[in-house]
Amino acid sequence: MSVTTRREENVGFVEIDNPPVNAINQAVRQGLLDAVRWAEKEMLDRVIVTGAGRAFAAGADAKEFDKAPVEPHLPDVMNAIDESFVPWVAAINGVALGGGAEIAMACRMRIMAPGAQIGLPEVTLGVIPGAGGTARLPRLVGLEKALDMITGGKPLRAEAALAAGLVHMVDENPVDAAFMVNTEELGCIVPTWEFNPPEADADVLAAARERVAAKMSDQIAPQRAIDVIEHGLSVPFHEALKTERAAFIELKGGEQARALRHIFFAERAAKAPDWLDAAPVPLEQVAVVGGGTMGAGIAYALLNAGLSVTLLETDADGVERAKANVEKIVEASLKRGMIDAARAEDHRARLTVTDDYGQANKATLAIEAAFESMEVKRDVFAKLEAVLPADAILASNTSYLDVNEIASCVADPSRVVGLHFFAPAHIMKLLEIVNADATGDVALATGFALAKKLRKVPVLAGVCDGFIGNRILARYREAADTVLMDGSTPWEIDDAMVDFGYAMGLYETQDLSGLDISHANRRRQDATRDPNRRYIPIADRLVEMGKLGRKTGAGWYRYPGGGGKVADPIVADLALEEAHFAGITRVDYSEGEIRSRLLHAMINEAADLLDEGIAQSARDIDLVTVFGYGFPRWRGGLMHYADTLGAKAIVAQLEEYEKEDPLVWKVSPLLRRCAETDTPLADAKPSA
Ligand code: 3HC
Repeated sequence: MSVTTRREENVGFVEIDNPPVNAINQAVRQGLLDAVRWAEKEMLDRVIVTGAGRAFAAGADAKEFDKAPVEPHLPDVMNAIDESFVPWVAAINGVALGGGAEIAMACRMRIMAPGAQIGLPEVTLGVIPGAGGTARLPRLVGLEKALDMITGGKPLRAEAALAAGLVHMVDENPVDAAFMVNTEELGCIVPTWEFNPPEADADVLAAARERVAAKMSDQIAPQRAIDVIEHGLSVPFHEALKTERAAFIELKGGEQARALRHIFFAERAAKAPDWLDAAPVPLEQVAVVGGGTMGAGIAYALLNAGLSVTLLETDADGVERAKANVEKIVEASLKRGMIDAARAEDHRARLTVTDDYGQANKATLAIEAAFESMEVKRDVFAKLEAVLPADAILASNTSYLDVNEIASCVADPSRVVGLHFFAPAHIMKLLEIVNADATGDVALATGFALAKKLRKVPVLAGVCDGFIGNRILARYREAADTVLMDGSTPWEIDDAMVDFGYAMGLYETQDLSGLDISHANRRRQDATRDPNRRYIPIADRLVEMGKLGRKTGAGWYRYPGGGGKVADPIVADLALEEAHFAGITRVDYSEGEIRSRLLHAMINEAADLLDEGIAQSARDIDLVTVFGYGFPRWRGGLMHYADTLGAKAIVAQLEEYEKEDPLVWKVSPLLRRCAETDTPLADAKPSA
């Protein structure tokens, strides 16, 4: 039974019971509707509705969104609750999100547990509330707060919900509190649908539209929510519900909602593969080698997850720098209210920063985040091997170096795994778990267990230059540099990708991280680079000129006075000059053409990664591109986006580009197979 009912005296108890989070599917809808009729038949004084387990209800079951709606529909269930002569009280024991919050709002009274949350996060799934949320919330909390909650999608904690007037009471035991409510008092509360709507304040609506345009201009649902809310203020309640429902159904079937649902479920499915049944090592004490930006970020992420950290440096100066780097993150987190003073103290107490490797002798896992040089890694792994327990897992955070070679430095290479974090490591959710040739199952399982502890999104990757993410990035850069050389400017290229939905263009991002980093990487690749592949030297010229990005006040852009970026004509001239040296007749690329080249380059590379078995699935590539590389989430990730174009169209376009440069644009065999067999990339399999 997804909804259970019982009676005590003249009070009905209704429990939503659909583990793990009480998502509202057809059975729950039917169960609730039956409960309304049961309570009426029994002539009960009240009904108390709550959720079994940890949630009140996590909203409509998004797994049903791809199917045709089946009766009873959620708005009808809400109306039945709201209009029933038996008053319902919501005892909000845990999260009440989306449809869950809408059930609560259809009740006469809401009592919330202190740890619970209530909100309408539908826009994060590309839809708007579809069961009365846009009509009921403004009536309960006012227009401004409702606009904020519905367009932002952020839930309220109990105290904030009480302050907003959304709930009547906060109580440790909301069911008992609901039982104690005076029947007369309850009878005096008007059903929500009879509330007068707030005034349609033009300034408040305009401010919400402005906010959404500034922050989420690419996304349809938040703007649509404002339109629907505004409309709902000027028409009778049930008219407002009809408009809301129509918009919800339309958005639910749209591309953005499909993409956001895909990422929502992909994120939740990101866990250790079924075949991996080894137990991870226990995780309590972890050693981190290198206290630079990356190492400090990793150390902070570990501390934040409750682990003890020994941060290892090479000398006393390094120790001081590392301490300061972690402290900077602690202070920033405190300032932003992400942790309180007690938690900060607790973090500090669990951190040891030292140049004595011996102090890490109890660590069951070490994560090396030292300088990207094989010599340095060899030295670090030898030291770790000497002091850590014999079964401790030794991980490298290398971005580009060969994990097989690193593993060969230790006696038992099955202990070695790649754990590729993304900067800032305490914030970015992606963790590539790199499975080297000799990596053992315990090491892999430990990588996945760590990701779970850190609440990161784990993706299994094979060994190649750049693993999944950086290999796609390298091809993205190459395609962008070629467009730059052959006819464009950095700002035109950046604008094309920002218009596509990236928060920042490639060149601006490079300015932020420093051009010297990619320069060092290019020098590392000099020995192995295919001489038949075009090499674009513009970035090298900038480095020679001392233009290393933001830190030097100029890179691809200029940053006068340390402020915002401005286009730099010198850089445009450099591209002209290099093109002239190379005898290239430049072309004038449209924004669409720039975008097409960059996206097709990435898709082709990603298809190769899948074909080679470096990536396990198209879904994993979507996770990598969204959670590590700023690919717009509302497009569902690189491969999900590619499937909206279709393999046939992609191959046709790549074949056009292939005529210009058959080496660089060689069509991936996997894409050809998908095109020939009409298979979406989501279902593509690597070559046998
Ligand atoms: N529909 C279907 N499945 C859902 C779901 C939903 N709304 N919410 C969560 N689940 C599933 C997850 O896929 C996961 O399944 P799995 O175990 O098979 O992987 C399981 O429930 C547990 O979820 P989490 O791993 O995310 O558990 P957490 O404890 O970390 O988080 C949560 C719980 C905060 C409820 C989080 O899952 C969440 O934010 N869910 C989505 C909430 C939401 O967006 N609701 C609005 C839905 S749209 C709607 O209601 C429309 C209405 O207005 C008509």
